[in-house]
Amino acid sequence: MKTDRILVTGGTGYIGSHTVVELQQAGYPVVIIDNLSNSNIEVLDGIERITGIRTDFVEADCTDFDALSKLFQQYPDIKGIINFAASKAVGESIEKPTLYYRNNLNTLINLLDLMPQNEVKGIVFSSSCTVYGEPDMNPVTEAAPIKTATSPYGNTKQICEEIIHDFVRSGAPIKSVILRYFNPVGAHPSAEIGELPNGVPQNLVPYLTQTAIGIRKELSVFGDDYDTPDGSCIRDFINVVDLAKAHVIAVERMLQDKSLDKVETFNLGTGIGLSVKELIAAFERATGVKVPHKIVGRRAGDIEKVWAEPKHANEVLGWKASISIDDTMRSAWAWQCRLRDRDVK
Ligand code: NAD
Ligand code: WQD
Repeated sequence: MKTDRILVTGGTGYIGSHTVVELQQAGYPVVIIDNLSNSNIEVLDGIERITGIRTDFVEADCTDFDALSKLFQQYPDIKGIINFAASKAVGESIEKPTLYYRNNLNTLINLLDLMPQNEVKGIVFSSSCTVYGEPDMNPVTEAAPIKTATSPYGNTKQICEEIIHDFVRSGAPIKSVILRYFNPVGAHPSAEIGELPNGVPQNLVPYLTQTAIGIRKELSVFGDDYDTPDGSCIRDFINVVDLAKAHVIAVERMLQDKSLDKVETFNLGTGIGLSVKELIAAFERATGVKVPHKIVGRRAGDIEKVWAEPKHANEVLGWKASISIDDTMRSAWAWQCRLRDRDVK
């Protein structure tokens, strides 16, 4: 067992829970803080079934400075933070912008302010390819221009990145790794943990698996008149376990003083662009299950095509996405079937 503890904010969430598994399997003691606003306490059981370890858990809100401060006193061995806690629904952020700015910004600001006095060396921040908007070129490198955000959610990611840069520039004795995720999909191969969408899913893969299992009647493909080979949008679908592993490397790099800069930014994607139609075909091929779908009009605000140039992460982190799209689709399906067996809608 390693001695440096990692604080995982939002650790019972989708990407957080997969990362906690990888951290524990790498020997790190972990403490999760989550307010359970978009996750379920039973996730801890799933993590325990995979790793054999009951993760320390504090139910609190990261915007509550005093609660966070208390947590650092309770766990003086915290040396690294992975900050997943955030509100993430693009549509909701347009309806409730102040909720998004308050939650996402204050969470990060509180954590940063508490790091120096608690001798925490580094923070990994969950950013998103949404910062690139509709890119001028694909694949997208980290040097691509940041486009004006089209939603308050997207804007929180851009502002949070700037806050980190400003804080480090001010001389704060911390390091940070900013990870820009492309489209995280799939579930742990054990089907013990996965994505738990709240209400009607807005994202493609949960909607697809819910359709395949009969919760939804039909998947709507939003547009087939884009300037792409088959007319549907193109994304870079990255397996959540591959993504989780990158976080272990990122946090380790800061703890071991390997960072090349005080703030490093990496794209996390496969480097492969797949269209919406190709993704549906991959699911049907990998699982043998048909997905009823129809083409409908474009969804407002959608990016036509975006996929990552992951070379920087490949070369500097020594990390590479390795799980095939077929295995990813099988994992998403196994997780959906597990939810049915547990009678979770
Ligand atoms: P998620 O909603 O499953 O997980 C976030 C977790 O944070 C939830 O468990 C929620 O209860 C918790 N949380 C939210 N606000 C909190 C607060 N103030 N205090 C304590 N806990 C709080 O989301 P996810 O998909 O796992 O995303 C994790 C991070 O990655 C987020 O920052 C998100 O913006 C970012 N991200 C996600 C995607 C994606 O497609 N899933 C893509 C790019 C970036
Ligand atoms: C993917 C493609 C849809 C649902 C969003 C956020 C982004 C990031 C990831 C956090 C698009 C199409 C979808 C459906 C469909 N999150 N689609 N039918 O839009 O790439 O990104 O999640 O940072 O910020 O904007 O992901 O899964 O919603 O859509 O045809 O029912 O699938 O039009 O082309 P997106 P998505």
